[in-house]
Amino acid sequence: MNVLITGGAGYIGSHTSLEFLQAGYNVTVIDNLCNSKQESLIRVQEICGKDITFYQNDLLDSAALDKIFKQNSFDAVIHFAGLKAVGESVEKPLLYYNNNLTGTLNLLECMQRHNVKKIVFSSSATVYGNPLKVPITEELSTQPTNPYGRTKLMIEDILKDLYISDPDWDIALLRYFNPIGAHHSGKIGEDPNGIPNNLLPYIAQVAVGKLPHLNIFGNDYPTIDGTGVRDYIHVVDLAKGHLKALEKLLTSPGVVTYNLGTGKGYSVIEIIEAFQQASGIEIPYKFTHRRAGDAAEIYADPTLANTDLKWTAQKDVLTMCKDTWNWQSHNPQGY
Ligand code: NAD
Ligand code: UD1
Repeated sequence: MNVLITGGAGYIGSHTSLEFLQAGYNVTVIDNLCNSKQESLIRVQEICGKDITFYQNDLLDSAALDKIFKQNSFDAVIHFAGLKAVGESVEKPLLYYNNNLTGTLNLLECMQRHNVKKIVFSSSATVYGNPLKVPITEELSTQPTNPYGRTKLMIEDILKDLYISDPDWDIALLRYFNPIGAHHSGKIGEDPNGIPNNLLPYIAQVAVGKLPHLNIFGNDYPTIDGTGVRDYIHVVDLAKGHLKALEKLLTSPGVVTYNLGTGKGYSVIEIIEAFQQASGIEIPYKFTHRRAGDAAEIYADPTLANTDLKWTAQKDVLTMCKDTWNWQSHNPQGY
């Protein structure tokens, strides 16, 4: 079976490409490398000894996309390509709406022209915004609080409308919680540009001495220790969720929506403690003011994915921190 993975050179895409190759799929990747390096794919191929067909192209280039679909015969698409930084999306909304929406529309039009009608889409827990209750189930109301989150929700709606217009489509909307960790080989992992926005890459860069200390955004939330609580999920568990989602699409379910999380929440302090235990390195930190837009507690109810996909996140927080550290310590400058 031939799968096209858009954004496959990125953090989640590279881990997912590896899982698909190891499961026996043929993998083609399209990525414009705006937030990744081709080295990630070279390493994926080294790990599993299998080849990826790679196109360095932009989803905004419909002619190039069309050519790729003409040259190949895809059975399904796993769609990761998009911009994902919340703060940047507030500063540059048009960039985000254009890249994420136009890129997706081009992709869908191309898929329709070439009669490829199975797609797994990378949505995000960010569509729930500041959730009314935790744990979060899929039917909870969606109210994203920034342009990035709105692109995710708009794409979900576009995909639902597409299905209404043509029930031959099969579509999985996967709402990821907080992916962290890296492949246990330490050869691929998260390699953010500049100063990281997210907690684990920031901690990892403090641990290797690239950053002096962690700023903890708020210690007065109504949580176990006052710091924010999130549902961290190992990126390899998340990648495996995509395999299960595609298997589900092969049974022609129409549109399905799943939370991919562990169902457990950890505070910033708990994560620091786990990382210190995993790495043997002390992480200096300072408390600072809350980050605008942050919620106190966000964690999934993953029951639907557990039962419907027969998928459950397996790896615990200590393993996530060990694998993050294994990647970061062997690749202090990233790829
Ligand atoms: P990433 O930035 O590492 O990967 C995205 C990839 O898409 C990059 O390799 C980038 O170069 C590519 N890309 C972006 N725009 C493109 C375009 N127009 N044409 C071709 N390639 C393009 O991000 P990631 O963390 O691997 O996330 C993958 C997907 O999952 C994204 O859609 C993201 O919004 C979503 N997501 C991520 C998280 C997270 O915490 N990492 C959480 C929820 C959802
Ligand atoms: C962020 C995004 C969200 C996205 C998610 C996964 C924002 C506002 N939200 O969520 O849209 O879906 O990543 O990619 O950016 N923290 C610190 N210090 C830091 C970094 C983080 O204390 O330097 C805290 C945060 O306040 C939060 C927790 O660590 O409580 C996790 O933060 P982060 O990794 O940025 O993820 P989210 O806030 O869940």
